[in-house]
Amino acid sequence: MIYLKSEEEIELLRISNQLVAKTLAELAKHITPGISTLELDRIADEFIRDHGAVPSFLDYNGYPNSICTSVNEQIVHGIPSDKVFLKEGDIISIDCGAYINGFHGDSAYTFCVGEVDQQIVNLLKTTKESLYKGIEQAQEGHRTGDIGYAVQSYCEQRGYSVVREMVGHGLGREIHEAPEVPNYGRKGNGVMLKYGMVICIEPMINMGTRHIVFERDGWTTRTLDRKPSAHFEHAVAIRQGKADILSSFEYIEQVLGERAI
Ligand code: MF3
Ligand code: CO
Repeated sequence: MIYLKSEEEIELLRISNQLVAKTLAELAKHITPGISTLELDRIADEFIRDHGAVPSFLDYNGYPNSICTSVNEQIVHGIPSDKVFLKEGDIISIDCGAYINGFHGDSAYTFCVGEVDQQIVNLLKTTKESLYKGIEQAQEGHRTGDIGYAVQSYCEQRGYSVVREMVGHGLGREIHEAPEVPNYGRKGNGVMLKYGMVICIEPMINMGTRHIVFERDGWTTRTLDRKPSAHFEHAVAIRQGKADILSSFEYIEQVLGERAI
C-alpha cells in the first residue's frame, strides 16, 4: 500500500524533516575529536524534544537510541555508546528521525571528524552527489529503478560499490512505508512514482567491497573488508518534474562553513 500525500500532509512532512535538518546541524557543532557517540545521541534527543517532537528511532523495533551513529567501516544503524569516542580522521554517518504532527522526518549526513584522508573525503563527496543524481530521477512517471540506476552508475563509475541489503523507503505516518527505493537497479524497472508520494533516498556507498556484515548487537552493519562507507539521506516529495526536497543540508553546511565537503 503506497500512500499519496495531500499538499497539507506534505507541509507537515516538511516541518518534521526541517526539524531533523536542524538537529543534524546542532550535532555538526559538536562533532569533534573526543566526543562520544552517546553524547551526540543525548544532544539530538534533547534538541528534538525541545522542539515539541519525539525521536522516531527510539524504540522502533526495539532500537535503543534516538539517532544512529555509524563510524568509519560501519554503514548504518550504529548504536550510540559511551565507549565510542570520535577521533581525528574518522567519518561518522548520523541518521536522525523526528515525529511531530503525525508525520516522521528522516535524514542522514556523513561528517568528517577533523582532517580526513582525501580518498575518504572523495567517497563522501561522491556519495552525496549520487544522492542528488537519484533525486533528479525522482519525479512523476519515473520508476524506482531510474533512481537506483542513477545512484549505482554514478558511484560504480568512480570505483565505489553499492550496498544492496538496505534500501530507501516511503515516509509518512510511518518511518518505513512502501515502496522500497534501492540504490541499484535498471532504468524503467521498479515501482512507478506518482504525484504526492514521499520517499527517502539514502545511498550507502562503500570504498571497497559491497558485501556487509550484520554485527551481533542486532543493528550495526559494517563493510566485510572494514573499508570506509558513506551514507546520505534526503526525504523528497514526488512532483511533476523536479522533486521537492523536504529535508535539507543547508543548516549543516552553514555550521561547517569552509569545512563542508
Ligand atoms: N533512516 C533509517 C532507515 O531508513 C531509520 C533507521 S530506524 C532505526 O533505515 F530505528 F532502525 F534506527
Ligand atoms: Co531512512
